[in-house]
Amino acid sequence: MAYIRTPIDSQVRYRHQCRSSPRCIVVALSVSFFAFNWIVFHAFKGQSSSDNNNDPLSKDSSGKPLSTNWLDTATERTRGYRASPDWQGQWYRWRALNPSNIEQHTDDLTKYDIVYTWVNGSDPLFQSMRLESQKNHPMFQKSLRENAKQIDTTTKRRYRDMDELRYSLRSTIDYASHLFRRIHLVTAEVAPNKPQTPSWLMKQPDSPIRIVSHNTIFSNSSHLPSYNSLAIESQFMNIPDLTDIFMYMNDDIFLGMKLLPSDLWTPLYGYVLHMEASLLIPPAVRSFDPNAITVGEWHSLQYSNYLLSQRFGPRHRAYIAHVIHVLSVSILKEIQSLWPDELGMTSAHQFRGEGQGKDIHVSFFMAHYIMEKLRETQLESFWQYRLDRNQDGILDWEERRILIDRVKIWNVNQDQATSARRQHSRPTMIHAHKATLDRIGIRMSGTTLYRQSGLDGFPYLLRNADTSKTIPTATYKGRDGKDVLPQFPYGNYEPPKDRKCKLDVDFCFGPDFVDPTYPRMPAEQGKRIFSRMAFKEFHCGDCLLEILMQDPYRGGMGAWMPKDETSEAFASVVEKVARYNYVLGTSDYSFMALQGAKGAKKDLDNLLAKWDHKAFFCINDDFPDDPVVENEIRTLFKDFLDTRFRLPSPYETTE
Ligand SMILES: *[C@@H]1O[C@H](CO)[C@@H](O)[C@H](O)[C@H]1NC(C)=O
Ligand SMILES: *[C@@H]1O[C@H](CO)[C@@H](O)[C@H](O)[C@H]1NC(C)=O
Repeated sequence: MAYIRTPIDSQVRYRHQCRSSPRCIVVALSVSFFAFNWIVFHAFKGQSSSDNNNDPLSKDSSGKPLSTNWLDTATERTRGYRASPDWQGQWYRWRALNPSNIEQHTDDLTKYDIVYTWVNGSDPLFQSMRLESQKNHPMFQKSLRENAKQIDTTTKRRYRDMDELRYSLRSTIDYASHLFRRIHLVTAEVAPNKPQTPSWLMKQPDSPIRIVSHNTIFSNSSHLPSYNSLAIESQFMNIPDLTDIFMYMNDDIFLGMKLLPSDLWTPLYGYVLHMEASLLIPPAVRSFDPNAITVGEWHSLQYSNYLLSQRFGPRHRAYIAHVIHVLSVSILKEIQSLWPDELGMTSAHQFRGEGQGKDIHVSFFMAHYIMEKLRETQLESFWQYRLDRNQDGILDWEERRILIDRVKIWNVNQDQATSARRQHSRPTMIHAHKATLDRIGIRMSGTTLYRQSGLDGFPYLLRNADTSKTIPTATYKGRDGKDVLPQFPYGNYEPPKDRKCKLDVDFCFGPDFVDPTYPRMPAEQGKRIFSRMAFKEFHCGDCLLEILMQDPYRGGMGAWMPKDETSEAFASVVEKVARYNYVLGTSDYSFMALQGAKGAKKDLDNLLAKWDHKAFFCINDDFPDDPVVENEIRTLFKDFLDTRFRLPSPYETTE
């Protein structure tokens, strides 16, 4: 089969980076699958994927086998790839693409569902249900007595309905009609079999908008009713007939520019993740004020990062931007199989803040899980299939020496002045991605810019990390008395040639590994060294990956993939890369909190002025509980929405 191996060159244009704030409620997005041969797709549909059970990579880094009950669903998305096994391998290994192997097919295969969560807090049935739940809930007992009014206003505020859903849906219909297959509106049941339904929603049997009640998706219905968005999100994988990849929206998020499937996921570049590298979540859980009545999302982010840190290494992880949240049913199920108790607890927390705020934040968790799994796949593949050259399971001195020498040469090169440093010469994976996607019939919307591919190295490699010792996990006081963050990652999408790291072989690999008089290192010991280097001392693993990726004069992903492209090992690595592949993207977006009438007017006018070039905006109505202010803002907000999204969507009744 002839593959086109000429590097494609066209300039990748970088544009503005997005801004964000942690305060706005989350949007998430995701994509399902799409592109290939319809016939082959069906031909392979019945085939199961039991070979995964023998796959050494399906083990945990601690050697514990991964539960595999998510594999069936996982296959759903990758089945088509298996049908033409080599196109993906050729793409990752050589960055070569034969477009005739991947074609777009029926429209529905290229579309992804959207999930909204929504409550009508003004509904008296909902209000009395909530009051009843609070009355019986231990979390509120003490504070109810002491501070009844404050609870009431905070919770009321959280549920205040400004009719945002109607307009957010209009924005989705206006700008994402080529993206979605269905919209699932996840709502609470206020009476048996009576989920809340927007009064203006047209009830047509063929409507793409479906009401999904919490009772349908909670696997443990004794956790209902739930007033905790994190608990509700933890059950998304149970939404019936949801595309594997889907996008998650909240009603305070509005689209302002066209969205296409390439804003969520593509077969070549994987998930499109939006992160905020400047806003970092520490790896430890913060102490919790048991009397706190309002609990922001920060606790759940910290708890999520604590769990990720236990598994993948104690690093600060980037906040996930409040724009597009891409989620995947099969990845969520995989996460559930690995953290069943923690997700069960999240589901059980009826109110946010219950259980010391130990909730999994699924959008944050899944994005970082994918990043870590791709990194793990890359490092593990190198360790297992390349470091052990003769594949005898033993790391003999000669094999170790080759790596050690390579690292030494690398370190010397890193010390050179930029002009004298040898640079890698391969095109990055996302080089000319627009033209490349065009060749398989996928268009970019212009709303998201692809900035960095996970295949080109771990994007959040630490700057100037000292790999001769463990990186502190907590901030410490610097000489000027100010807090110093010990972990500062790259994060401005520096191209690989501008990133630097040095790897201390003595610390990262340990004394036995570097000892020439230790001829044969058993596999078990090699694995332990790998785990420590890849996760516990994650800065070592990041740098090793950087070395593998930047090694000069090699094309594609040749440095860490198994050499024999016809081997099962190669196929299994390709399958994992396809599963966890991602790019980091940015979009121009705004977050605003409407807090006073004057500021609100200015902000909203500003948004109108940028009509055509704000990809998303998030408007938080967390304004003070003063009837005059509330009225003013309500009017301004309504005027803004009526101007910006004037036309009713086809799914609204006309009143
Ligand atoms: C919310 O509930 C109130 C009270 O029942 C109702 O008047 C209003 O129409 C509802 N809003 C929506 C969007 O359904
Ligand atoms: C449902 O949740 C309750 C409360 O968290 C728990 O006691 C029960 O064991 C759960 N049931 C199942 C089937 O998991």
